[in-house]
Amino acid sequence: MIHPPADRTTRIASSLTLEIVARTAALKAEGKPVLSLSVGEPDFETPEPIRTAGKYAIDHGITRYTEARGTLELRKAISEKLSREQNLAYSPEQILVSNGGKHVITNFMLAAINPGDEVILPAPYFLAYPELIKIAEGVPVIIETTPESRYLVSPAQLEKALSPRTKMVVLITPSNPTSTLYTKGELEALAPVLAKANCWILSDEVYEHLLYDGRTQASPAHLPELYGRTLYVSSCSKSYAMTGWRLGYGAGPKGIVAAAAKLQSQMTSSPSAISQHAAVEAVSNDQRDREHMREVFQKRRDLMYALVEKWPNVKAPKPEGAFYVFPRIDAVWKQAGKPYPGSLTVSKQLLEEEYVATMPGAVFGDDLAIRLSFAASEDTIREACGRIEGFLQRQME
Ligand SMILES: Cc1ncc(COP(=O)(O)O)c(C=O)c1O
Repeated sequence: MIHPPADRTTRIASSLTLEIVARTAALKAEGKPVLSLSVGEPDFETPEPIRTAGKYAIDHGITRYTEARGTLELRKAISEKLSREQNLAYSPEQILVSNGGKHVITNFMLAAINPGDEVILPAPYFLAYPELIKIAEGVPVIIETTPESRYLVSPAQLEKALSPRTKMVVLITPSNPTSTLYTKGELEALAPVLAKANCWILSDEVYEHLLYDGRTQASPAHLPELYGRTLYVSSCSKSYAMTGWRLGYGAGPKGIVAAAAKLQSQMTSSPSAISQHAAVEAVSNDQRDREHMREVFQKRRDLMYALVEKWPNVKAPKPEGAFYVFPRIDAVWKQAGKPYPGSLTVSKQLLEEEYVATMPGAVFGDDLAIRLSFAASEDTIREACGRIEGFLQRQME
């Protein structure tokens, strides 16, 4: 190599999960009975009407560059969807379409954050956040939360973390990895603190349609005092089983959306024309497929949570949305008078000894837990949870 890679690449952690993914694949190739509870995407096919719309685009010349911030047709469809389904008023000029929700987040961060600006990030967090903040040359300020508070941040915690350098607060609701969400009342409790702070609220709502037990989605953008400072982020990935289509969208005040769109226009020109055409179908038409997937996830949630809840010395909030259970497991070892080996070691042992792939909590900023995904069949959930329970029992002997 003539030169080492630029400093910005060395400031960013490489994914700790890659090792687990590679090892899972290697064990499978050896013919081991590996079960995976590690995936972060729906295990459904993209619904048929959306696939048909994608094929139509390919066959009918909808295959060229589009407007950088997304086609007007799609931004209108998203604007109408947000109004119809979520009671959120955003005009097409306030909407940005990007290559996945993660890309919307990246664009908003690059558009909002100057070098040295602080970004408040409650942990556990979706693992990309600290690195995206650093790519934008911001400084992550982590707030630790606990299962006792359903891993939600309190107004007092938030107040304490704010400083004159705070430029943004990130809220993930429902959360990956904890699957808990902020109710309207809980957001209202945070609102006076957030409204006083002169900063953006990046509200990551990519799991907004995967809610259980009749819950409805609450967004900071619903609160008049927070609407003008909210950067709303969503995606077709989880709601419509479209992870590989790479289609996300965000909304916010026109100025910051235009700035983000300017960055996007130089970096990627536009999102895929084919995915945008398919996304019009996804957000516009009847939502039976989405609702069916949600019902299946709720059944799997019931099954997995009923199993995990019985494990001794393990604490996990009941998932309110998304598709993860996030059990805190360190007390299993403490109870037995043994040192807790850490979530990375536990995840590795589960894979090597029980052939169950999980995600270590450490990658989400909480080493005391592991993440179990219920984007898996009921048989897989039953068998894998049985193996984990056996493993935890053995640690207590
Ligand atoms: C909380 C959260 N935000 C954003 C994303 C990004 O999703 P995508 O880029 O596929 O839209 C994910 C994906 O796992 C997520 O869990």
